[in-house]
Amino acid sequence: MSEDLSRNIDLLFEPLVVGSVTLANRIVVPPMVSNRALSSDAAVRWYGRLAAEGPGLVIVEATRIHRFQEDYTAEAIRPVVEAIHSRGAKAAIQLFPIPLGESWAPSDLSRERIDDLVRQFAHATSVCIAAGFDGVEPHGAHGYLVNQFFSPKANAREDGYGGSVENRCRFSLEVARACREAAGDALLLYRHTPVESESYGIEDSFVLTDRLVEIGVDVLDISPGGFRRPGELSAPFKERYARTPIITVWRMEVVTRAVEAIRERRADLIAVGRGMLVDASWPRKVRERQLDEIEQCEECSVGCFDRLWAGELVGCVKWPDGYHV
Ligand SMILES: Cc1cc2nc3c(=O)[nH]c(=O)nc-3n(C[C@H](O)[C@H](O)[C@H](O)COP(=O)(O)O)c2cc1C
Repeated sequence: MSEDLSRNIDLLFEPLVVGSVTLANRIVVPPMVSNRALSSDAAVRWYGRLAAEGPGLVIVEATRIHRFQEDYTAEAIRPVVEAIHSRGAKAAIQLFPIPLGESWAPSDLSRERIDDLVRQFAHATSVCIAAGFDGVEPHGAHGYLVNQFFSPKANAREDGYGGSVENRCRFSLEVARACREAAGDALLLYRHTPVESESYGIEDSFVLTDRLVEIGVDVLDISPGGFRRPGELSAPFKERYARTPIITVWRMEVVTRAVEAIRERRADLIAVGRGMLVDASWPRKVRERQLDEIEQCEECSVGCFDRLWAGELVGCVKWPDGYHV
């Protein structure tokens, strides 16, 4: 390893103060659906494993907001938060509006349904904060419902929620405001996919993110979804919002790439997803400069994405003992 790289790795281990929360370093585990119920022992083991070897922040997977009106009480989900906190990481959780098995487009939703979803986001946030989470993240990315409202290609509404970019931002902003109010001093993150080809560009994204920052979003989580340009898409946001921490994601387990993203000020935080699935020791091995010891993700998708969509326990095909942790 070059001396330069070894020295620059320290950049990943600088603490970051975000609002009322101090993150021990710049390494984030991004939200990844694991197909383990949040209230189960399996989820406690899963998140304990992901938090065990040194990430600064673990964002718990996309969690359906209606569950917080049912079985996901603060007591039921607190063990997951404790599993993360007891390993020294902070814990946030991503919130997702659509129940399992449902598929809604923006034009399917009545005004009452929209208001109800906004209330559900607020309620879910309150429950999560009562359980001890340090922050919540509405899922505004990857072409799912909240992102669809923003996309002129996916949003055919002709009322105040469709048409102009201001109208297309409305649902996202209502959700963010509701979560902001319910989160109190805790963090509000927001995951956004900028630039969806043939639908919207960075200028539209800036209209949304300017408002999100005004509302009090503490961290912008910039996620390309299928549009893969590791570390690049976050740069314009970092340039625009000097004081709002930006997360960048996609194949950041490549250590030189992660270091460059921070060194070149393209982001403040790097998220390592599949790299943490294959090897949850990634943060420790990087800190100890044992880069040759890191188990590599081959992007095969067999243990992660394929099992995610099949509704099976997510993990990595490289694990020697199957998918139970
Ligand atoms: C199994 C799996 C589940 C995922 N679930 C979510 C999710 O719940 N919410 C989300 O925004 N992204 C989800 N993602 C995307 C990741 O958060 C991340 O953005 C993506 O994997 C790219 O990062 P990576 O190259 O480090 O894996 C998931 C990815 C995987 C592999």
